[in-house]
Amino acid sequence: MKGIILAGGRATRLRPLTKITSKQLLPVYNKPMIYYPIQTLAKAGIKDILIIVAPEYSGQFLNLLGSGSEMGVKLSYEVQDEPRGLADAFIVGEKFIGEDNVTMILGDNIFDHDFTDNVVSFKSGARIFAKKVPDPERSGVVEFDKNYKVLSIVEKPEHPKSNYAIVGFYIYDNRVVKYAKSIKPSARGEIEIVDLHNEYLSRGELEVNIIEGMWEDAGTFDSLLRVNNIIAEKVKQGELK
Ligand code: G1P
Repeated sequence: MKGIILAGGRATRLRPLTKITSKQLLPVYNKPMIYYPIQTLAKAGIKDILIIVAPEYSGQFLNLLGSGSEMGVKLSYEVQDEPRGLADAFIVGEKFIGEDNVTMILGDNIFDHDFTDNVVSFKSGARIFAKKVPDPERSGVVEFDKNYKVLSIVEKPEHPKSNYAIVGFYIYDNRVVKYAKSIKPSARGEIEIVDLHNEYLSRGELEVNIIEGMWEDAGTFDSLLRVNNIIAEKVKQGELK
């Protein structure tokens, strides 16, 4: 299993914080944000990791993280010239993925869930994760039937059909590269991850696991502030370093 951290994009929602650096290098209490997704992958046993970065900040990531040996992982880097959507990560990362399965985590997603069992038991298809939230319209949303069979996946719906947000941690088999290449860009010009999920769903090969515990997408001022406070508290309680 290979790991990809998507840390590209321009994060215009966080200007001026992101005028001179990348969102994923901003502080989350006592560490740069990118440390958390690296640790989430490492904790799940995924140590061979590709970080996809925007051209403007690639040097800063290298200066900060280097080979990854300090964090006990092996890091590679690819530059994504334009933010072409989440599913583009599998095109940019094609060589790195090779013949393997791949887990992707978004560089601004902070978890305390331990994904080890979810990763180790993965065989084929796509396995994605959902969490019950009060504001699902900010996220991809999954609709289940009574038996938790997936009925639909919709990206940021105006009228969400459930409270289950899809979080930024995704496991795919090797076909993901081929499927990503076949996706047509959406109206906003991006290769959408929801199309990837619908591809697997239409084949009956999409599984959604529900997770509990802390999950934050630190992409807005409010969620960034919230996650800073949560992590500060965990450090003070001795739960984290
Ligand atoms: C992305 C995905 C969305 C997912 C979210 C999790 O949205 O498109 O489906 O729920 O990440 O953080 P973004 O935060 O890039 O707008």
